[in-house]
Amino acid sequence: MRVMVFGANGQVGRALCKYLLSTGVDVRGLSRDHNGGDILQLADVEVAISQYQPNVIVNAAAFTNVDLAESQVEEAYAVNEAAVANLARCAKAVGALLVHFSTDFVFDGIDEHPWGEEDRPNPLNAYGRSKLAGEKAVVQSGCRYVVLRVSWVHAPGHKNFITSAMDWLKEKNSVRVVHDQWGSPTSANDIAWAVKAVIDRAMRDSSVDGIYHFANEGFTTRFDCVRFIASQLHSRSNVELVPVSSSTFKLPAQRPLNCRLDTGKFKRTFGYIARSWQDGVRETIFWK
Ligand SMILES: NC(=O)c1ccc[n+]([C@@H]2O[C@H](COP(=O)([O-])OP(=O)(O)OC[C@H]3O[C@@H](n4cnc5c(N)ncnc54)[C@H](OP(=O)(O)O)[C@@H]3O)[C@@H](O)[C@H]2O)c1
Repeated sequence: MRVMVFGANGQVGRALCKYLLSTGVDVRGLSRDHNGGDILQLADVEVAISQYQPNVIVNAAAFTNVDLAESQVEEAYAVNEAAVANLARCAKAVGALLVHFSTDFVFDGIDEHPWGEEDRPNPLNAYGRSKLAGEKAVVQSGCRYVVLRVSWVHAPGHKNFITSAMDWLKEKNSVRVVHDQWGSPTSANDIAWAVKAVIDRAMRDSSVDGIYHFANEGFTTRFDCVRFIASQLHSRSNVELVPVSSSTFKLPAQRPLNCRLDTGKFKRTFGYIARSWQDGVRETIFWK
């Protein structure tokens, strides 16, 4: 089986390439600087795919800077929608399964329950709107696809909420963290394992095609997540943690408050249950 991964230098792309290689899968990971790896170069992408003839295409490339997307709307849509539509068209042309990632930010976060796949998306920011447009492009393309909406992704060695919190706890005496945003910090490694479960099942059974929610098990607030990280890093137990509401920080993009995803459909379909969010975070904290 041949798997082609776009965005191979990102958190998910890197974890996925490493894991698939370790399982003996024939993987070609492409990042922006490879020929055919810049997903904005539509014709080059098409050539790379038609030469490699993958059975599975994984798109881990995305415009992920949520605040920058507010001022670079066209760029965000080019990567998160138009380039994704092209990947889906190429996947259809070679008969490959497309595994694509979307986000909890397609929801407005207003309801109290964990979001299900059937809930109505209503993104609050340009990033979320561009990712929702990308989902629609995949669904309408006619290719075989599994879209995984994931949340609060982290991996060691990358900039994300967990590694940023570790820096704050090392450098500051007092850290203000929002207490009203709920979600599940999700390890890129768990996403890689989930993708393998998806591929194994979807290559045998096309009836599983669709949109799924995937995250590490359990929910937390950003504040409690930082408190957990602080409890693991005993060295700076004297840092003051101050809970604040989201409105305290004047960021360009509005964030949904409730980012909790109901992952029941994924678990029932693919039989894979992720680790607790605490186990995933611990791995990122203590990675050497
Ligand atoms: N991070 C999160 O908290 C989060 C939450 C929910 C959903 N997601 C989704 O999960 C997926 C994976 O996210 P991630 O956390 O792994 O993101 P990431 O670490 O930011 O990686 C995204 C990768 O895409 C690459 N990229 C951007 N534009 C490209 C282009 N034109 N051609 C090729 N590559 C390009 C980036 O390359 P450069 O480094 O060169 O820019 C980067 O390596 C994305 O679909 C994202 O929307 C992420």
